[in-house]
Amino acid sequence: MDYKDLMAEALKARKMAYTPYSHFNVGAALLAKNGKVYTGCNIENAAYTPSNCAERTAFFKAVSEGVLEFDAIAIVGGPAATDDLNVCAPCGVCRQVMMEFCDPKTFKVILGKSTEDYKVYTLEEILPLGFGPKDLEED
Ligand code: THU
Repeated sequence: MDYKDLMAEALKARKMAYTPYSHFNVGAALLAKNGKVYTGCNIENAAYTPSNCAERTAFFKAVSEGVLEFDAIAIVGGPAATDDLNVCAPCGVCRQVMMEFCDPKTFKVILGKSTEDYKVYTLEEILPLGFGPKDLEED
């Protein structure tokens, strides 16, 4: 799957966002190394803190099915009232979840407004000096 198609999957996933509180709808499409795509949307909650971001929904779907290796994630987001989007960067918690499962030098984070307008970053670019599983290894 190319990045344009991954963006299309993220845009489709955004339509499922459950956002009665923020009315800010996010969609994500996570490409696993096995070629499968796991989509996610943000899911909010009346108690606020149980809310889950689109990116983590996608990761947790994949990991819960035993898939642990990933190449890229496309993310789109913006106010529910419009499909005319601005770039939506992942929150710090979601970057940390990416750090748990992805190689920061090779994992791609695709941020954009449409299938025609996006930029590709590495995880390391958006999370410099990230702390991950390797930091807990004894030498
Ligand atoms: N949100 C995401 O799902 N992903 C992001 O990258 C940024 C923020 C959600 C959390 C909350 O449901 C809403 O967007 C407003 O912060």
